[in-house]
Amino acid sequence: MKNQSLNSEKSKTVLVTGGAGFIGNSMVKKFLDAGDTVYVIDDLSTGTLDNLPESENLHFYKGSILDKPFLETLKDLQPDLIVHLGSIVGMRLATKYHGLVYETCTTGTSNVLDTFKGVPAVLFSSSAVYGMDNRHAVREDQQVSYEQLLKYDAGDPGYACGKYAMEQIGLKESEAGRKVMIIRPFNVIGTRQVGTYGMVVPTFVNNAIAGKPLTVFDDGFQVRSFSDVTTCVNCVFKLMEFDELWTPGHNIINIGAKTGHSINDLAFMVLEETQSDSVIKYSFYEEFFPNHKDVAYRVPDTTYGEKYYGVIEWPSLRSIVQKILHSVKHVNAVQES
Ligand SMILES: NC(=O)c1ccc[n+]([C@@H]2O[C@H](COP(=O)([O-])OP(=O)(O)OC[C@H]3O[C@@H](n4cnc5c(N)ncnc54)[C@H](O)[C@@H]3O)[C@@H](O)[C@H]2O)c1
Repeated sequence: MKNQSLNSEKSKTVLVTGGAGFIGNSMVKKFLDAGDTVYVIDDLSTGTLDNLPESENLHFYKGSILDKPFLETLKDLQPDLIVHLGSIVGMRLATKYHGLVYETCTTGTSNVLDTFKGVPAVLFSSSAVYGMDNRHAVREDQQVSYEQLLKYDAGDPGYACGKYAMEQIGLKESEAGRKVMIIRPFNVIGTRQVGTYGMVVPTFVNNAIAGKPLTVFDDGFQVRSFSDVTTCVNCVFKLMEFDELWTPGHNIINIGAKTGHSINDLAFMVLEETQSDSVIKYSFYEEFFPNHKDVAYRVPDTTYGEKYYGVIEWPSLRSIVQKILHSVKHVNAVQES
């Protein structure tokens, strides 16, 4: 059954935390295209204003979701919907700022939900909540022990524990009657993603263009599902149309490409597409991220989500790499002119 109040045909006001980031800006643009008014809250720690379009329907508020008094000043916005993406993302930051990452997921999420009480909320969780499960495509209903999450975080609650705790905060609200939807995205990639914080695809593309080595961790046979950002955002919009997906027991949904690629595949593909002479350099993951182990296999089972967003033809990894390469070349050309 379709959800009337959040129907995409009816214009609404939407609060997007982390809206100046990589996925956030795609969400913001899609809401604006639908005629909605969008309020973005972002501390610009990794996001940038360049990601946001000029629009009289877009209102930007610089500040942190950890700053409750700041959020209180925005209480009167009374949005119809919250899309909560504000988070510290990327292994480089996640391993350096464990505590802050955890706090942003937990206190940050509580602050947003408490300030805008009762407003339906889409929470962006992560495939990290599947911990170190390495064996098969992961399903929403599988049980993951806290030990697994702690192992992912190398014994100190950070990103995986934080996202799990964020989900629990959301589920508690949901059980109390609020409309809450929890999205678990899998390695979202596309143009505007930056490599600075440890994202593998932009890092490889930038290094290949610059003739620098492509660092592959361990043996490079780790498998990931690389999922196009536009397709991911389209799935979220589709999911928001269904009433049952806002209710307890139904409201956790994987989004991601079903086909996995090894990091070796990716590295060779990037070298081919960039026609680069860069070398592939193998290093131990733990050398870069002490005490952390890399997940060997991370691909979603999307049987549940497909019942709602349909069977998706995800863009191939090669086509996304080509698109990213085209965009990087364009930006470089503009900067040089
Ligand atoms: N990119 C992926 O592959 C992926 C996969 C799984 C989950 N996610 C989740 O999706 C969301 C968006 O990720 P992204 O890839 O766009 O990353 P991103 O870093 O581009 O976006 C995060 C945004 O949040 C902002 N932010 C960080 N801390 C903040 C704070 N305290 N207050 C306000 N704003 C803050 C940043 O400035 C940035 O604009 C995150 O919640 C992330 O955990 C992303």
